[in-house]
Amino acid sequence: MKWAVITGSSSGLGLAMTSYLLEQGWSVAGGSRSGTDIEDENFYDLELDVTDAEAVDEFYRTLKDLTPKVHLFIQNAGVCEMNPVSKIDIENFGMHLATNTLGAFFMLQGLKPFLIEGETHIISLLSTASKFGYPEMAAYNASKFGQRGMLESIQKEWKNLKLRFTPLYSGAVDTPLWGNLNSEFSNERMLSVEEFLYVFDFVVNAPKNLRLADLTFIHREGFLE
Ligand SMILES: NC(=O)c1ccc[n+]([C@@H]2O[C@H](COP(=O)([O-])OP(=O)(O)OC[C@H]3O[C@@H](n4cnc5c(N)ncnc54)[C@H](OP(=O)(O)O)[C@@H]3O)[C@@H](O)[C@H]2O)c1
Repeated sequence: MKWAVITGSSSGLGLAMTSYLLEQGWSVAGGSRSGTDIEDENFYDLELDVTDAEAVDEFYRTLKDLTPKVHLFIQNAGVCEMNPVSKIDIENFGMHLATNTLGAFFMLQGLKPFLIEGETHIISLLSTASKFGYPEMAAYNASKFGQRGMLESIQKEWKNLKLRFTPLYSGAVDTPLWGNLNSEFSNERMLSVEEFLYVFDFVVNAPKNLRLADLTFIHREGFLE
């Protein structure tokens, strides 16, 4: 039985990847604060707040009762708000860092005992915002650049384990994340969740020795402006 763990399984890309993996026969442990309606004997809907180190420990204690090893880890949980510099306060900036950067770190830290040498595949939902700055996204940009740096550091530190790391530098995808932003961007200029899943399917099923080190994908009309 192959085990996948995914953070942020309750919405958007996380929910779509969870359903996809279950259809492909994986056992999946999903973590989120709000949970899902998915009913599948191979799905374990676990409570998780990635910003809370104790909650992350509890998540992994529960996971240990389900499986000793994780074949696929998907680092997906994330938050994004758009605000001009004048409106970003310590709370807002801190929420982005606590979730997207520090939360992502806690999850990788706790994953260590579950890793399978030469096997575990770690897919991280980075963003084009991990490479390029966007207006009114200073806090999100900082957290996603930070997540990228943190990931690259751990990848080098764990080199001897011969894991597979795939950072996904995704452009905008039409998910509930955008619904909460009050942005004026048209969702016709965003990738659909189905188009995202095309990339995800390619990544998950890529030959074991293939490392997709710099996968950036955006809508064919370019970046949102
Ligand atoms: N959509 C895009 O355009 C886009 C583009 C590039 C990269 N990404 C990245 O893709 C990832 C998923 O985005 P999405 O568009 O699917 O967003 P979404 O629909 O808003 O879903 C976000 C998910 O993250 C979870 N989450 C947020 N805070 C959490 C916390 N403290 N603890 C545990 N889970 C938490 C949410 O679950 P709960 O609220 O239930 O906890 C939810 O399941 C994010 O990392 C985002 O940065 C998105």
